[in-house]
Amino acid sequence: MRKQVIAGNWKMNKVISEADQFVEKAKNEVPSEEQVESVVCAPFPFLQSLVEKTEGTPLKVGAQNMHFEESGAFTGEVSPVMLKDLGVTYVVLGHSERREIFKETDEDVNKKVHAAFKHGLTPIICVGETLEQRESNQTKDHVESQVKNALESLSDDQVKQVIIAYEPIWAIGTGKTASAEDANEVCTHIRNVVKDFSSEAAAEAVRIQYGGSVKPANVDELLGQSDIDGALVGGASLEAESFLKLVEAGKHE
Ligand code: 13P
Repeated sequence: MRKQVIAGNWKMNKVISEADQFVEKAKNEVPSEEQVESVVCAPFPFLQSLVEKTEGTPLKVGAQNMHFEESGAFTGEVSPVMLKDLGVTYVVLGHSERREIFKETDEDVNKKVHAAFKHGLTPIICVGETLEQRESNQTKDHVESQVKNALESLSDDQVKQVIIAYEPIWAIGTGKTASAEDANEVCTHIRNVVKDFSSEAAAEAVRIQYGGSVKPANVDELLGQSDIDGALVGGASLEAESFLKLVEAGKHE
């Protein structure tokens, strides 16, 4: 049975005092690591403080992006070595906002995934279609190509450890959620793609999250689907109370 992963993606929100308050409230309330994986993916300036504050608790800390190089002349970038050194454990890669606004390519995402493994970080790889692609029936092809490109040249063992977040772009921050059945259909497709690309064992092991307007009111139905193993949550992860409801829902699956 795959363990659910509930990850908050705070995006570019909060100041450090608010981030600290959040973890002080949440860190001892989240269920044990055996029951559910609970992660907050925070802006870079908060990571050190959050890692220190959550040490020894089941609440884990993730970054929202990183460069694939270890060091060098890349002004403004943050490397996997820096994240690992801080004690960060997860990193969101290829979020649609990075792809759309900052022009990240599939190739960049693949390089970042390899760099994450090299430095012992768990990648949360985001994929998802635009509204236009959904309306013209290209969802599965698009997501399939994003998944294959992201996983290129990974070992079977590495594929088993990745987390893939299916986030339809039209459902992000809009209040529109894919129906649980539609979300599951794409997640099932992703699992089949992993099976063909890697192996049946990898497909069984890989965790696939849904993301896009997940909130306490719809999380149970989404997590109840056969191929959805967690959620990547923006808006509803910003308040500790709401985040705790989401991880609680993950625990019961
Ligand atoms: P919302 O939950 O705010 O729709 O954001 C989803 C998302 O982009 C998480 O990465």
